[in-house]
Amino acid sequence: MPSRLEPEVRELSKRVHPDRPELPVFQFWANPTLIAVAPDSDRVIGYTSYQLNRTDTGRLDLWLIDLGVASEARGKGVSKELMEARLAIGHSMGCAYAVGLTRPGNEPMRRLFRFFKFDEVKTLPNAYFDGGDGILYMLDLKRKELNNGTS
Ligand SMILES: CC(C)(COP(=O)(O)OP(=O)(O)OC[C@H]1O[C@@H](n2cnc3c(N)ncnc32)[C@H](O)[C@@H]1OP(=O)(O)O)[C@@H](O)C(=O)NCCC(=O)NCCS
Repeated sequence: MPSRLEPEVRELSKRVHPDRPELPVFQFWANPTLIAVAPDSDRVIGYTSYQLNRTDTGRLDLWLIDLGVASEARGKGVSKELMEARLAIGHSMGCAYAVGLTRPGNEPMRRLFRFFKFDEVKTLPNAYFDGGDGILYMLDLKRKELNNGTS
């Protein structure tokens, strides 16, 4: 992410997650963050962050840790493009799994995981800051053919 865009991305993250405590300022520096910009301007309409995590057994995984699309840009596939870009990075880095979490009631996000053929692994109680449950999703990146999630 170009550094001049960091305040705009932080603003967008506050707008798309209005109930979440504000993320610490280092969030977007500590974690690689991809952005989507409007075709007719350089306005940021979507962002996503991820982490590369090595497990105790030495396996490298891609953790999907944040995703948001501006309300006026939703339903047009922006999150699909951001997800595809994240998965391509994980694949090229040799990650075994992509790992993500969402709330049971977040239907757009659950549809996105389903579109990319993630497995719904389990429900984790008390997974969020407010005590809400989270559904854990995993995708075997070695099996995934990149492009459009239809593999
Ligand atoms: C979740 C979110 C990122 C999806 O972004 P988006 O760019 O609108 O999503 P896309 O257009 O790429 O569509 C992804 C899927 O969600 C579906 N979808 C989009 N908006 C939807 C809605 N309001 N209700 C139900 N499904 C919806 C799409 O139809 C598509 O599924 P399909 O391929 O089965 O048709 C966006 O809604 C958002 O920013 N929400 C608030 C923040 C958030 O919840 N982030 C995720 C935290 S885990």
